[in-house]
Amino acid sequence: MQKIAQTVVILGTGGTIAGTAKDAADNVGYTAAQIGVAQLLAAVPALAGQALEAEQVSQIDSKDMGFVIWRALALCVSQHLARPEVAGVVVTHGTDTLEETAYFLQRVLAPHKPVVLTAAMRPATALLADGPQNLLDAVVVARSQGASGVVAVLAGEVHSALDVRKTHTYRLAAFGSGDAGAIAQVEQGRLRRHRSWPQSEALGVDRLPEDVAAWPRVEIVTSHAGSGAGIVTALRRIGVQGIVAACTGNGTLHHELEAALLEAQAAGLRIVRSSRCLGGAVIASAGQALPSAGALTPVQARIEMILALLEAGPR
Ligand code: SIN
Repeated sequence: MQKIAQTVVILGTGGTIAGTAKDAADNVGYTAAQIGVAQLLAAVPALAGQALEAEQVSQIDSKDMGFVIWRALALCVSQHLARPEVAGVVVTHGTDTLEETAYFLQRVLAPHKPVVLTAAMRPATALLADGPQNLLDAVVVARSQGASGVVAVLAGEVHSALDVRKTHTYRLAAFGSGDAGAIAQVEQGRLRRHRSWPQSEALGVDRLPEDVAAWPRVEIVTSHAGSGAGIVTALRRIGVQGIVAACTGNGTLHHELEAALLEAQAAGLRIVRSSRCLGGAVIASAGQALPSAGALTPVQARIEMILALLEAGPR
């Protein structure tokens, strides 16, 4: 009889979940990424004696996330997932760019086992630290039969990497999946599931260049009152290969910014229109020269463009 994989590998990357403050009542004046992943595990008595492994991939505030760590993390996750005894991987992360790392890992790996990102809104030293419960719930999801793909687990909710976004600066329940809704709830160590696990194509981790300078440069430009051409001119001067416009409403742009983006597109840059609205897709209509990013958020559209440029190969 085939043995059921039980081992869960916990990869630490930093964040508030590993943060400390001088004063337990201070929920904002703390330093992120201070406690190692092994110590985070030791703080959850319910995990004692379980088949867990801990590995520190980085120790950063996730606002500083970048290509070097993304590549190292994707390689590390894929190596662990290939081990037959591993049921799934948990990644402890900062909340600020969690949705970007989740989307990136899903689109690079599209794993057949669960990869669960978790985080905390309060530092480990807080009166009401949310990290330990989130970590416990994340391990439950990583070991769930039939689970697959990259998900985020926070505040008792399981969100797909394809939908999750941070929606609040301070609340403990700071993440949502917009119109799609959460995949499941974690309640007392059990999953109550509402919809299917994330599925997508995978670029493949071998396509990620080791040299960060070889990663395509794609920037996000927001359209707002008083937007102009200057930002696009500056980006073209530094050699960006693509620009994601975070547009108003259903993909509309200030006319001066739009003219500059059309010119950039004609010169060979990739341009897409996403929306700066919190929900909904950019619904394209006939004859629009700048393509729509559909339901992708600006940060997701940027990752898609980077991966598409990597797939297309050097210019
Ligand atoms: C971070 O993203 O690393 C800091 C903020 C947080 O984790 O909530």
